[in-house]
Amino acid sequence: MYILGIDTSCDETAASVVADGKEILSNIVSSQIDIHSQFGGVFPELASRAHISFIIPVIEEAMREASLKLSSMSAVAVTYTPGLIGSLLIGVSAGKAIAYAMNIPLIHVNHLEAHLYACCLDGQSPKLPGIGVIVSGGETSLIYIKQWGEYELMGRTQDDAAGEAFDKVAKLLQLGYPGGPIIDRLSTEGNPYALKFPMAQIKAGKYHFSFSGLKTAVRNYLKTNDSVNINDIAASFQETVVKTVWTKTIRIARERQVSSIILGGGVVANKRLREKLSQEANVLGIKTYIPPIKLCTDNAAMVAGIAYINYKKKQVAPLSLDPVPKLW
Ligand code: KG4
Repeated sequence: MYILGIDTSCDETAASVVADGKEILSNIVSSQIDIHSQFGGVFPELASRAHISFIIPVIEEAMREASLKLSSMSAVAVTYTPGLIGSLLIGVSAGKAIAYAMNIPLIHVNHLEAHLYACCLDGQSPKLPGIGVIVSGGETSLIYIKQWGEYELMGRTQDDAAGEAFDKVAKLLQLGYPGGPIIDRLSTEGNPYALKFPMAQIKAGKYHFSFSGLKTAVRNYLKTNDSVNINDIAASFQETVVKTVWTKTIRIARERQVSSIILGGGVVANKRLREKLSQEANVLGIKTYIPPIKLCTDNAAMVAGIAYINYKKKQVAPLSLDPVPKLW
C-alpha cells in the first residue's frame, strides 16, 4: 500500500512516498533556510509564500523518485496540526485537491505523532507503552505512549521550545540560523562545565520545561563579560538543555516503568542529546529509539508512515478538513 505524505507545518516543504508504513520510496524536503536566515528565525508570511511555490514541484519530485504515479497511491496524508496556520493551509489544500482528484482517502496527521513514529521508518520497532520525547523548534514535550494513537501528555514547555532556545542563543552569539547545528558543532571544542547556567524548576508540574530563563542567563552573561569564549558558552548552554531533557525523561520513564524511550524532532539531531540520553537509559535497562538524523528534522516520510497506522484504523478525514495551528 503506497501513501503520499505531505508536510508544510513550518519552513520545510516536504513530500514522500512510503510503502506499507515502513519503506521509504522517496523523501523530498525543500528547505527555506536561505529565506529565513536573514531574520534569525522563521518569518511566517514568507514561509507560506514559499510553500505555494514549492509544493507542486516537491510532490512531483517525490513521485518521480518513487517511480510511481498518483494513480498508484492508496491514500494521501497531510500534516494538519500543529504548525504555522499559513504554512499548514498550503499542505492541507494540496492534500485535499489530490484526494478529490484521485478519489482516494485523505488522512490527517498530527505532526508530533509523526515525529515519534520516525524511528519506525528505520526498521526499529519500539515496545509500547513507552515515553515519547519530542524536542524540536516549536515543541518540547514528554508523552506517555500507550500504543500508536493513544497518548497522554505528561509535560511540555511553558515558554520557548528547546530548538527555539538553541536558535535564540545562536542569534545572541551571532552564529547564524538555524542555531542548533552550529552550537552542536562548536560545543565539541568547548568545555560543557565552564559556565553554570540555570536549569528551570517549574511550579506548574515536574515534567514541564522552561528554556526562556536559560536564554536570558546567556544574554546576561554576554552583557556582563567583556572577553568570552564562544565555544565554552555553546557547550555549557547545550549541556544545560541536554541535562534538563534527559533528567526529566529518565524520571518519567522510571515512574511509568516503561522499557522504551522514543525520540523525535529536529533537536534530536544533537549529538550530545542522543549520546547522553541513550547512556542514562541504558544504565536502567531502558532502550532508546532514535531516528537517523535525516528523519529527525521535518520530513513527510514520517507523515506517510504514521498515516498507514491511522488508515488501518479507518481514521480518514473529510474534505472539509481545516488546519489547526495549536494542538494544546
Ligand atoms: O523539528 P524541526 O525540523 O522543525 C521545527 O520544529 O521547526 O526542528 C528544527 C529545530 C531548530 O530549532 C534547529 O536549530 C534544531 O531543530 N536543530 C538542532 C540540531 N539540528 C537541528 N538543535 C540542536 N542540535 C542539532 N544538531
